[in-house]
Amino acid sequence: MTVVSIEKQGDIAVVTVDNPPVNALSQALRQGLWDAAERLDADPGVRAVVLACAGRTFIAGADVTEFGKPPVPPHLPDLVARIEAAAKPWVAAIHGSALGGGLEVALGCRFRVAAAEASLGLPEVTLGIVPGAGGTVRTPRLVGVEAAVDLVTTGKPVRAARAQALGLVDAVIEGDLLPGALAFAAEALTRPLPAPLSSRAVTPPEPGFWDRAEPATAKAAKGAAAPLRALACLRKAAEASFDQAMAFERETFLDLRGSTQAAALRHVFFAERAAPRPAALRDVAPLPLARVAVIGGGTMGAGIVAALREAGLPVALIERDAEAVERGLANVASIFDGAAKRGKLTPERAAALRQGVTGSTDYATLAEADLVIEAVFEDIAVKRAVFDQLGRVCRADAVLATNTSYLDPRLIAEGLANPGRFIGLHFFSPANVMKLLEIVPVPETAPRTLATGFALARLLKKIPVQSGICEGFIGNRILKRYRAAAEALVRRGVPIDRIDAAMRGYGFAMGPFQAQDLGGLDIAHLQREGARAAGQDVPETLGDILVRAGRKGQKTGGGWYDYAPGERQPQVSPTVAALLAPAVTPGAAMTGPEIAAALVAEMAAEGRAILAEGIAESPAAIDLVEIHGYGFPRWRGGPMFASGA
Ligand code: 3HC
Ligand code: NAI
Repeated sequence: MTVVSIEKQGDIAVVTVDNPPVNALSQALRQGLWDAAERLDADPGVRAVVLACAGRTFIAGADVTEFGKPPVPPHLPDLVARIEAAAKPWVAAIHGSALGGGLEVALGCRFRVAAAEASLGLPEVTLGIVPGAGGTVRTPRLVGVEAAVDLVTTGKPVRAARAQALGLVDAVIEGDLLPGALAFAAEALTRPLPAPLSSRAVTPPEPGFWDRAEPATAKAAKGAAAPLRALACLRKAAEASFDQAMAFERETFLDLRGSTQAAALRHVFFAERAAPRPAALRDVAPLPLARVAVIGGGTMGAGIVAALREAGLPVALIERDAEAVERGLANVASIFDGAAKRGKLTPERAAALRQGVTGSTDYATLAEADLVIEAVFEDIAVKRAVFDQLGRVCRADAVLATNTSYLDPRLIAEGLANPGRFIGLHFFSPANVMKLLEIVPVPETAPRTLATGFALARLLKKIPVQSGICEGFIGNRILKRYRAAAEALVRRGVPIDRIDAAMRGYGFAMGPFQAQDLGGLDIAHLQREGARAAGQDVPETLGDILVRAGRKGQKTGGGWYDYAPGERQPQVSPTVAALLAPAVTPGAAMTGPEIAAALVAEMAAEGRAILAEGIAESPAAIDLVEIHGYGFPRWRGGPMFASGA
């Protein structure tokens, strides 16, 4: 297949890259671009070159699938230098995304122009590496050190308008990109050319800049190694020669490429890309979603409404009485208003989002709904009554979903007419923020209903993971084992605060006990009490002892820790020590890494059981659940990856 073609428009050559799906810089593409530079330099009829891409995007980066293999020439840094040294100026015409190596190729061009919707960035740190083809060396020469540090250490792309404001692109083209780029090139030839980036100097940053940037970068990285290494490359670029900085960047890139963190982040990258489109559903068309409804406007219902609104859908919200409708609408409004207050939404957008929600108590309004998501109390009788009504008023092909956390979806669906339309869609709190969506089919669920669940996840930009039916599905089942294992350590005498500190040290934002204090200990306790009342043998947990003593978490002023009134900072609690003393055998001495290793091993062990039972489809699916639903550090790859599963 020809990945690079050349066509002449008068004295300007258009080099077109066509390497679907995302024009990644495979060896063939690098060679094709190299050959094009050679050929066009030798062509006296060509005065300038426009580099454009076919398909949905500009070059989206190095080919990540080549990262595990030995590099084959031409190497990317050499290709960028070759384009930069071309006898005729190259103009990168960017649409879609110019990311990583794609942006580095564009930085080798003498000019860059972009379509208004384009985005540009150096996301390498999100893959555990640093830019490997001059990104850290040329970017500060173009946009200054401060902007370069922002781009490279966060890995966050910027849109075309911002890129232009930074100086990363020379022009934003409104209308058709290629004619705009050709006109830009023709105009550029009438003026003296700017110096190539490699021969420009870096303007030194303000005094004290690096002393501030280092701790700030380390804090934001939360244990990931690449951002600080990228910062070191940028500092080198500011303080050493171009060639020395290039050598330093290359050395850092090659060192990190083989690191465990990079392997973990690549694993997550590919798992995330595979998740929204399971192979088994490739030929199944989802139901188009235009009219959607949510039943119950509490914590979860309001969050789900917000997520649906943000994806552009009008939403009907059904509650049990007029007062509850008002409360539900107020819950939704407070999500949007809060976002507006924090500057995340304009007040106008918040108002528009609010206005797209219609509250009602009348199920008859759902006759034409395509999808209804139930988020009422976690009570089988209440849920069944809801589905009984839905079954009667909704279309036979409408998708009817439950957001239950722990109830068996098969029991909720019992007696429902056309059960092929039923499915579990388990959102995580806050539902408009958390990326994970567990999709739980029952045996009767039709492929189209399942495909609609995945289509919904794509629409909401969530990471879907299919789960079989068991108590707690994938995520909460592992959470239960994790918490039980943490309690077991407390029983052996490991201090509560040391366990939490160990998990923070591992990369979690919070340890298991602090997290329970935040969410409340009472829900899990009530569940255990329910099971005991039903005759099940559920052993007493340490959490039960605390709840019985009135310690339900932050909301009661204390749980596993004490909290000063109005404070969220956990304090080690002598009361808790006294309450738990009879259950604790002092003596175990464990270091932080030993504690973390033990608890992650428990998570992975539960993950293996889940796989053996066919509840999860792959270790990667379990890793996605933990990373996107439970704060497992992304750069560790998830419990299965971290445990070598
Ligand atoms: N290498 C190899 N394959 C890639 C790839 C890459 N850099 N980027 C995307 N793909 C593949 C995906 O795995 C997926 O494959 P599939 O169809 O077989 O599942 C396919 O391309 C389409 O990807 P998406 O589903 O993500 O497509 P979208 O249209 O939603 O998004 C995108 C397009 C914004 C370009 C997104 O794919 C993306 O962000 N890609 C990663 C870009 C990146 O991180 N680049 C930097 C690489 S590191 C680098 O360049 C190092 C350099 O400095 C030396
Ligand atoms: P909640 O108590 O905050 O809200 C429930 C809402 O449902 C209330 O507003 C109530 O008025 C309404 N409701 C009750 N009966 C109704 C009926 N017959 N018709 C219409 N509305 C009715 O509860 P929450 O936390 O939002 O949980 C809802 C569901 O989501 C539960 O199944 C829960 O297990 C699940 N879930 C909860 C999560 C959480 O973190 N809170 C996370 C994931 C799922």
